[in-house]
Amino acid sequence: SLPTHVTLCDVGPRDGLQNEKQLVDTAVKVELIHRLQAAGIRRLEATSFVSPKWVPQMGDNAAVMAALQRRPEVAVAVLVPNAKGMEAALPTRPDEIVVFTAASEAFAQKNINCSIAESIERFAPVVAQAKAAGTKVRAALSCALGCPYEGDIAPEKVGAVAAQLRAIGVDHLGVSDTIGVGTPRRVQAALEQALKHFPLGEVSGHYHDTYGQALANVYASLEVGVATFDASVGGLGGCPYAKGATGNVATEDVVFMLNGLGIETGVDLDALVDAAAFISEALGRPPVSRVARALLAK
Ligand code: HMG
Ligand code: MG
Repeated sequence: SLPTHVTLCDVGPRDGLQNEKQLVDTAVKVELIHRLQAAGIRRLEATSFVSPKWVPQMGDNAAVMAALQRRPEVAVAVLVPNAKGMEAALPTRPDEIVVFTAASEAFAQKNINCSIAESIERFAPVVAQAKAAGTKVRAALSCALGCPYEGDIAPEKVGAVAAQLRAIGVDHLGVSDTIGVGTPRRVQAALEQALKHFPLGEVSGHYHDTYGQALANVYASLEVGVATFDASVGGLGGCPYAKGATGNVATEDVVFMLNGLGIETGVDLDALVDAAAFISEALGRPPVSRVARALLAK
């Protein structure tokens, strides 16, 4: 049987907006996060403490964190690629940090300018520092299904990097289909590898919808018991270092499917679609998600 409750992490403010060419006002980002919180989202990625030369859109990271009205029931996460990012992130009091590497060597080089092994070495002191501060550490494992440079990625590769991340004390693993090429059985194989090293409650799926497979992959994940997913309001996003990658599965599409399955998320679909409409208007284009389009046309 499928899980009865699913935890959604909205990554729209981070994964969704990082790819936008035009700088989005800090106030708009903050308003989006407030609307997500009001819609019942209880985990979200607010921003990333990466190099502003690499991702200019996230250059207002500290300002976003400073302006957020934090709620005790909402876990706010930020991405941290290295010690310098950690130094900047910690004073903003994130509930969680997200370190990120890849199951593909070529993608690690393009995205974080180092090898997978170097990334693990780089994360080890960051994880220790987070632990000392009582901050949970998630890791995002990019290109867990396929890579724009290396093609298909074997599930064993996911297992190998998952083991290294666990060994340095990472709490949670996000199996990430950066370019959306995963299909249900292959996603299950990747998750099964992750589950060799992380407990069921600490493995999540992060699926981009580039090939229209993301909802099917969420369902396939539920079949193996995984009940935590990243999703992006309005289906925003892409990765600046993965050419052609589109947004994550839209949060409202996932909520609609889960509602139909009788699986609880705590998220109010109408309020979520309003948040999608808000950010779409700010970006000057309609939301890409099917559910937002359907409900907004009513
Ligand atoms: P590098 O150039 O090798 O770094 O980049 P460096 O240590 O040599 O430093 C170069 C310069 O950057 C120096 O400044 C540093 O101070 C500065 P300069 O002396 O030239 O003035 N710097 C920083 N500034 C601010 N914050 C920092 C920081 N670190 C160095 N943290 C680095 C290495 C990791 C920094 C770079 O490659 C980077 O920022 N990469 C991030 C790329 C990114 O954000 N990608 C998108 C997020 S990942 C994603 O979307 C995938 C995910 O959604 C899952 C999935 O779908 O797969 C999570
Ligand atoms: Mg992503």
